[in-house]
Amino acid sequence: LRLAIFASGRGSNALSIIRASKEGRLPRVEPVIVVCDKAGAPVVARSQEEGVPVVEVLPRDFSSKEEYERAILEALREKSVDAVALAGYMRLVGPVLIGAFPDRILNIHPSLLPSFPGLAAQKQAIDYGVKITGVTVHFVDLLMDHGPVILQKCLPVLPEDTEESLSRRLLPIEHEAYMESLDALSRGRLRIEGRRVLWLPD
Ligand code: GRF
Repeated sequence: LRLAIFASGRGSNALSIIRASKEGRLPRVEPVIVVCDKAGAPVVARSQEEGVPVVEVLPRDFSSKEEYERAILEALREKSVDAVALAGYMRLVGPVLIGAFPDRILNIHPSLLPSFPGLAAQKQAIDYGVKITGVTVHFVDLLMDHGPVILQKCLPVLPEDTEESLSRRLLPIEHEAYMESLDALSRGRLRIEGRRVLWLPD
């Protein structure tokens, strides 16, 4: 599976996928390009250091979202990309990319969807007072944090948790969940039926 990773910032999810692939823990996944929409985001240098080519595609250089996504699509086609992993990509994916990669774009979100979509999910969970939260990997559709759920993992919210401590404890679980989901996708194990994702035997 030739994978493109889209990221906007720190890049811990991107790096964990890249390293897992290098270390043979994702034997069928090859990260072939990182797409970043923010000039100079930390993920750019970190991915390059790991030897994965990065393209910076900046929305302000385009007159519309459609043009912006067409430029990304061209870069993905050059690399014969099969699937896309959104990893802290702080932007809604539009019809151009969804149409080009139907059921081939995944996202990770730091809450148990459908609870707490959107920004600052960890803070939303703390402010709401839930006692259990977690992470969700899902297929991407045109709505934010909405497509069919592939995998969820959960974690207790501790009385002393802050947004920072909860985010820190969730991060390794995000990385694990993404690994397992991409491995399953690369083995052709995920079948979408309506809103449900069935895991086929390996
Ligand atoms: C992660 O918490 C991810 O779930 C969310 O944004 C954060 C990105 O972190 N969508 P990183 O850039 O992967 O380190």
